[in-house]
Amino acid sequence: MSGSGEPLGPHPSESLVGRVVLGVAGFSFDPRDRAADLATLRAGLAAGAGILDTARAYARVDDPLYGEQLAADAARGTGAIVGTKGGHSRTGPSTWDADLSAPRIRADVETSLRVFGRLDLYYLHRVDLAEQHVEEGVAALAALRDEGKVARIGVSNVTVADLERAVAVSRIDAVQNHHTAMGRESADVLAWCEAHDVPFFAYSPLRSPAPAPHLTAQAEQRGLSLQRLQLKALLQSSPVLSVVSGATRPRTVLDSLAAESDPWDEDLAFAYAADLAPIGTA
Ligand SMILES: NC(=O)c1ccc[n+]([C@@H]2O[C@H](COP(=O)([O-])OP(=O)(O)OC[C@H]3O[C@@H](n4cnc5c(N)ncnc54)[C@H](OP(=O)(O)O)[C@@H]3O)[C@@H](O)[C@H]2O)c1
Repeated sequence: MSGSGEPLGPHPSESLVGRVVLGVAGFSFDPRDRAADLATLRAGLAAGAGILDTARAYARVDDPLYGEQLAADAARGTGAIVGTKGGHSRTGPSTWDADLSAPRIRADVETSLRVFGRLDLYYLHRVDLAEQHVEEGVAALAALRDEGKVARIGVSNVTVADLERAVAVSRIDAVQNHHTAMGRESADVLAWCEAHDVPFFAYSPLRSPAPAPHLTAQAEQRGLSLQRLQLKALLQSSPVLSVVSGATRPRTVLDSLAAESDPWDEDLAFAYAADLAPIGTA
């Protein structure tokens, strides 16, 4: 989906795990320096990121394709995969719609296809907010996959019940939900993905209100950021999990990417378990 014609990589269960994905949302909504943002994303890709995550909804009011075009421009010629999402669009300064109807999904996919040239991974963005049943959107997306317009299909903001209904219609290639090391908000959905060998993308992986005093102490001892350790805690927690990082500065992008190759040792495991214990998820 980079628009550069690179061949697809292996199937998601081989290629989309254990990764730090670069999220484009934070670059998209408000006026920013586009050239600097492009350079930041490209620096992340050059440093080893293999996937960008964007969406139709990551838009400016006056530019509905801003976030998709930014990802397409960043990925072009790099071989990176881009995941994008449809059925959810910005309709005003602080309003977004949600629509999983077949005509809407088809129209969104056709528009994204024009931006990227090919679509490696396409999600139904807001399964939780749309009034249509998940089956309708999945059937529409699966038909587009059968037509060769989308290589892989995903669902986002789903429950286990949604997933069961979705796979009754079609194979699902990826799931994207909010999930953090401390909150473990989508633990049940992640367990479902593990049981079905479906890649799980944890979005907003740092947005948890729960404190992590033991991991914080480890970070201070090691001279590392707490964010990097929290991303590592997530990555080591499941073989099917990738994190979708929202870092927007070169320093934080590179710091987050480093989590992928960081070691996870016994002291970190004890610290993480001690942080989880008070909130009953250890
Ligand atoms: N499917 C969905 O419905 C959905 C919803 C929300 C988000 N998402 C996806 O998830 C991505 C991430 O979401 P998010 O922005 O909420 O993510 P996040 O990574 O949880 O939070 C981003 C914040 O963390 C900071 N940060 C990241 N890495 C850091 C590091 N190593 N050290 C210090 N600070 C760090 C960022 O700072 P700086 O900006 O200063 O780097 C930013 O303030 C989005 O871009 C989007 O692709 C999907």
